[in-house]
Amino acid sequence: MTDIKKGLAGVVVDYTAVSKVNPETNSLLYRGYPVQELAATQPFEAVAYLLWNGELPTDVELAQLRAVERQNRALPADVRAVIDRVPLDAHPMDELRTAVSLIGAQDLAGSGSVLDASGNPEENLARSVRLFAVLPAIVAYGQRRRRGLEPVAPRDDLDYSANFLWMTFGEVPDDVVVDAFNRSMILYAEHSFNASTFTARVITSTLSDLYSAVVGAIGALKGPLHGGANEAVLHIFDEIGDAAAVNGWLDTALAEKRKIMGFGHRVYKRGDSRVPTMKAALDTLVNHYDRPDVAALYDALESEFVARKGIYPNLDYPSGPAYNLIGFDTLTFTPLFVAARVTGWTSHILEQLAANALIRPLSEYNGADERHIDGYVADEAVLAASERPEEAAG
Ligand SMILES: CC(C)(COP(=O)(O)OP(=O)(O)OC[C@H]1O[C@@H](n2cnc3c(N)ncnc32)[C@H](O)[C@@H]1OP(=O)(O)O)[C@@H](O)C(=O)NCCC(=O)NCCS
Repeated sequence: MTDIKKGLAGVVVDYTAVSKVNPETNSLLYRGYPVQELAATQPFEAVAYLLWNGELPTDVELAQLRAVERQNRALPADVRAVIDRVPLDAHPMDELRTAVSLIGAQDLAGSGSVLDASGNPEENLARSVRLFAVLPAIVAYGQRRRRGLEPVAPRDDLDYSANFLWMTFGEVPDDVVVDAFNRSMILYAEHSFNASTFTARVITSTLSDLYSAVVGAIGALKGPLHGGANEAVLHIFDEIGDAAAVNGWLDTALAEKRKIMGFGHRVYKRGDSRVPTMKAALDTLVNHYDRPDVAALYDALESEFVARKGIYPNLDYPSGPAYNLIGFDTLTFTPLFVAARVTGWTSHILEQLAANALIRPLSEYNGADERHIDGYVADEAVLAASERPEEAAG
């Protein structure tokens, strides 16, 4: 009997030097640095640099990255035009996927052959930085478009996180809000071989291009078992209403065998390493916006679900309500995850290309037994060739 690892659970498929998830100690390291230390001390741009290059930037390197990021942060007119053709009631992840697809087609136009598309490391790093720079404008415009608002032009005097909030809301919120948002971006940036990153690596392993890999990763991240969970958490909060209703709601949800979004993790079984840092950011926002009701609902659902099932919150649990307090629409939550995770995806794409092997697992067939088309007479030559698999296989 073949030992099938459904969902590839527990299967180690390759090395990575980008990040280390350690479920034993509930820790997460980016290039060796604990993620909570990075979240407490670094701007998101510096963490992006670290993920791509393996080291934190010097002041000069950070200034150079910021200069390129500022040059590429405006929403291109033709990207806006394509976004405007996406139905307003489509999910913004579809909008984002379409926008990245267009950007890729424009960048790769004239590359001649698929053989040129995977590019060299310098080109791919430059593409990564440009995508990282332009995604906030696309995400921000998505939210504004749904509210019937025009895009807001970026501001050169603001760093990545403050500018992202500026382009979304047309104002720069208090420093504590910018800081909480910056932390969330860092926490979402990278998480080893999760489903979307693995998707990006699979696509890259065929020597396809970076944009195709990112488009595929966006598709994988959209699902509620992955990135879509932060959006789903808010739907649950809206359904429950307030802390007093948690017990009754949970009785029904568990009786209906519903998955409680924002809880559980494929790798961490005793708590997600990123949650304490994001919960602290959420607490800051709760104080800033004076919303103790949010904290009460959060705590009630967490303690009741952990008590009943022994399943702990993941990062999407605190980030959902945090993004809600900042003013993001629920539909914008997963696109925010894309803006952060594009740094991890592209780091893995660069790593995959540097030591590539086509990713192509095996399967155990459990379909119909061999059968034949009535009246079919086999071509003897083809039959003979197919009986010599080593020669005939292609
Ligand atoms: C993330 C997730 C897909 C991991 O799945 P997994 O590795 O297959 O989960 P496990 O094998 O640890 O699950 C063990 C049991 O707990 C249950 N479980 C896990 N997470 C659960 C949740 N959030 N709500 C209810 N039950 C859950 C599973 O259904 C399973 O029950 P079973 O043994 O009766 O089948 C799963 O926890 C989940 O769907 N969570 C909700 C979505 C979410 O928040 N995703 C974001 C992840 S960062």
